[in-house]
Amino acid sequence: MRIAIGSDHGGFDLKVHLASKLQQYGHKVTYLGCDSINSVDYPNFADAVCNQVRGGKAECGILICGTGIGMSLAANRHRDIRAALCHDEYTARLSREHNNANVLCLGARVLGLGIAEAIVERWLASDFSGGRHQLRVNMYSD
Ligand code: RB5
Repeated sequence: MRIAIGSDHGGFDLKVHLASKLQQYGHKVTYLGCDSINSVDYPNFADAVCNQVRGGKAECGILICGTGIGMSLAANRHRDIRAALCHDEYTARLSREHNNANVLCLGARVLGLGIAEAIVERWLASDFSGGRHQLRVNMYSD
């Protein structure tokens, strides 16, 4: 799968870790910065990842900041982006099955490495259920 991944400084270490895992699993990862733990503005990286997804260069995106909140707020400003802030495998699965999320947001300061890896694996392995959920997604899409 083609995956665009970005973070701010708060998510940098987790992004490096997850990008490496994703590549090991055979995914094509587009790494969009930031490039260090120096302070940066997270909306710039949300924009970069969302543009890759909206433009079809990536099938989905992963955004990581300290809490995941800023990234999810910024990403959801983009048309056709459904960004889900997930804290566990349950929310990861349901964000795909019910919400057809195309961007996964993670909070590096609230998750351990093992949980973050499990969330990503579950999210990538889950598919949209469609049906009544498509009708609901349509209600907040234009
Ligand atoms: C940066 O300190 C922090 O505000 C950011 O990573 C994120 O948590 C924002 O929502």
